[in-house]
Amino acid sequence: MLRIGVLVSGGGTNLQAIIDAIKSGKITNTQLALVVSNNPGAYALERARANSIDACCISPKDYATREEFHQALLEKLEKYHLDLIVLAGYLVKIPPEMVRAYPRRIINIHPSLIPSFCGVGYYGLKVHEAALARGVKITGATVHYVDEGTDTGPIILQKAVEVKEGDTPEILQRRVMEEAEWIILPQAIQMIASQEEQIG
Ligand code: GRF
Repeated sequence: MLRIGVLVSGGGTNLQAIIDAIKSGKITNTQLALVVSNNPGAYALERARANSIDACCISPKDYATREEFHQALLEKLEKYHLDLIVLAGYLVKIPPEMVRAYPRRIINIHPSLIPSFCGVGYYGLKVHEAALARGVKITGATVHYVDEGTDTGPIILQKAVEVKEGDTPEILQRRVMEEAEWIILPQAIQMIASQEEQIG
């Protein structure tokens, strides 16, 4: 059984896609044990609680130093004995000590076809604003392993999405979520879960 924890910051539509995929059997051999947000008002926390999943807020604002925040986050994750950590719209930089503690066991969903429109400063709507400004005809989403860089880890899955005439950043974001993110993030988790099942 793959025990996963999901880190969130916002609406939690990617978290919901994972919850729904587990319920429907698209994801097997997996238990969603914990959801953590840095944002106390994140609707993603409501989605977790509505599905009886342990959910909590661990915010950098509640700690005197960044190091104390990192320590609190790592201690929480450790308590849940997680096999995989999923960053689903999580906007806080993952500290190197966390990457080292979970080698090739942290994955992230990014709303572009990496290496385009990624790295520091590219998150949420900013990604789609940049894609529209550049005039690309195809964009999409990427699931990748998290390393100590920003959006630089090995790519696991990608899915392309067409940019349409008249797209605004908001319209494009929604299409990328619906046609790519919500599909490849559960798929990536299922790939890892089935590998874990074979290894045992
Ligand atoms: C999405 O655009 C996702 O690509 C990015 O964060 C945004 C919010 O996602 N990583 P969610 O609705 O909170 O899952």
